[in-house]
Amino acid sequence: MTNVAVIGSQWGDEGKGKVVDWLSERAHVVVRFQGGHNAGHTLVIDGVTYKLSLLPSGIVRPNKLSIIGNGVVIDPYALLSEIESVSKLGVIVTPENLRIAENAPLILPVHRKVDQMAEAIRGKGKIGTTGRGIGPAYEDKVARRAVRVCDLADPDLLREKIENLLVYNNALLQAAGAPPMNVDEILTPLLEVAPKILSFSTPVWLLLDKLKREGKRILFEGAQGIMLDVDHGTYPYVTSSNTLAGTATIGSGIGMGGIGYVLGITKAYTTRVGSGPFPTELTDAIGAKIGKIGNEFGTVTGRPRRCGWFDAVLVRQAVKICGITGIALTKLDILDGFETIKICVGYKHKGVLYDYLPASMKIQAEVEPIYEEMSGWSESTQGKRSWVDLPAQAIKYIRRIEELIECQVALLSTSPKREDTILVRDPFAD
Ligand code: GDP
Ligand code: IMO
Ligand code: MG
Repeated sequence: MTNVAVIGSQWGDEGKGKVVDWLSERAHVVVRFQGGHNAGHTLVIDGVTYKLSLLPSGIVRPNKLSIIGNGVVIDPYALLSEIESVSKLGVIVTPENLRIAENAPLILPVHRKVDQMAEAIRGKGKIGTTGRGIGPAYEDKVARRAVRVCDLADPDLLREKIENLLVYNNALLQAAGAPPMNVDEILTPLLEVAPKILSFSTPVWLLLDKLKREGKRILFEGAQGIMLDVDHGTYPYVTSSNTLAGTATIGSGIGMGGIGYVLGITKAYTTRVGSGPFPTELTDAIGAKIGKIGNEFGTVTGRPRRCGWFDAVLVRQAVKICGITGIALTKLDILDGFETIKICVGYKHKGVLYDYLPASMKIQAEVEPIYEEMSGWSESTQGKRSWVDLPAQAIKYIRRIEELIECQVALLSTSPKREDTILVRDPFAD
């Protein structure tokens, strides 16, 4: 039985939510394994838009199990408020359809403060984080200070762990001239929500082992994208987790060999939110046009996304680093009507040609893209549900992308709507 990992192959917002929702019809279980509520995954089903941050995108389908693994940093208040907001749209979340890992670290209010403080200190060099405490929570996890879901069951231990967490974090806040937090400020509201959070808590690794033995199909839903990976992305302008498919094993406890197919979600052009290098960025009218037609505004922060041409060099790098088996190409419809379309096929830097993005942040910021130009298509691809209905020139664009990134299209998405999806090769059947 093939389990599938869905991963963003660019800088996030490639359409992972839409694709996971579509694929989850064929899956029994959907698992988030890294990131937190910095993610914003949009689903459009029967005219209703769902914006999910922490909840796996399978949550909207009845009879599917959603799991939040230990690799996710969980803000308990954000989780509860998301559960409440989806319930208003008719999605009922109970321990029957949502389980969260007992060993997942929590994002606490102090992490949000430290995140915002750190950004203010960075000044012009700021990362442009979502300000939700993601980085500081991961730092505390690695520093072995984190408060974890299981700690919520023991008020004395919880107090001790928060005290310990604050020794470090208050020192940071005070050094920056910000007021420190006191233990009760964090502990009292946390104890109020603890029973609700604990009702979802379970040893996820054990549950996944059982589901695997039962032959259940498991879909792993990545957040962010490969270029935001803390090791392989455009460091330091990255998020604080590994966004690669391999993280699904660490971030859920499924064990090696638990994933058979890696589906890289790939936008037909490129976007990025926040700071950092972006070789194919268009700061001209074309970039603004893509952003407008593509409705490129951050799901989480509402910030306008930076837009640019498709960067085949970056996506090929993602395919190799992440072991992507096939891609889901999304938002092709946004390029409808462009007279010419460019694809980045290499970089130039101080007379040197690169067929990959080097690790140096300075070189990353200075590389110039080498473009290949193609004629666009005037016909609409929006909402097309069959390959034969696509304009020949659009197919040519897809074929050229496949060639350049050394990977084939498994799915094509032609609108935000669930059903506007063309299946080329079934990832679960591969
Ligand atoms: P994610 O973070 O990867 O899940 O992506 P987001 O949900 O943040 O951003 C993708 C946006 O594009 C959402 O508004 C989707 O509804 C929308 N979308 C996804 N696929 C398509 C597509 O094929 N065409 C169009 N026009 N919009 C799409
Ligand atoms: P989805 O899952 C796009 C970006 C932020 C910032 C950097 C670090 O919707 O694709 P963080 O708050 O994680 O410390 O911010 O990462 N970022 C995303 N960009 N999509 C996302 O998630 C992102 N999650 C974080 O904008 O540049
Ligand atoms: Mg998003």
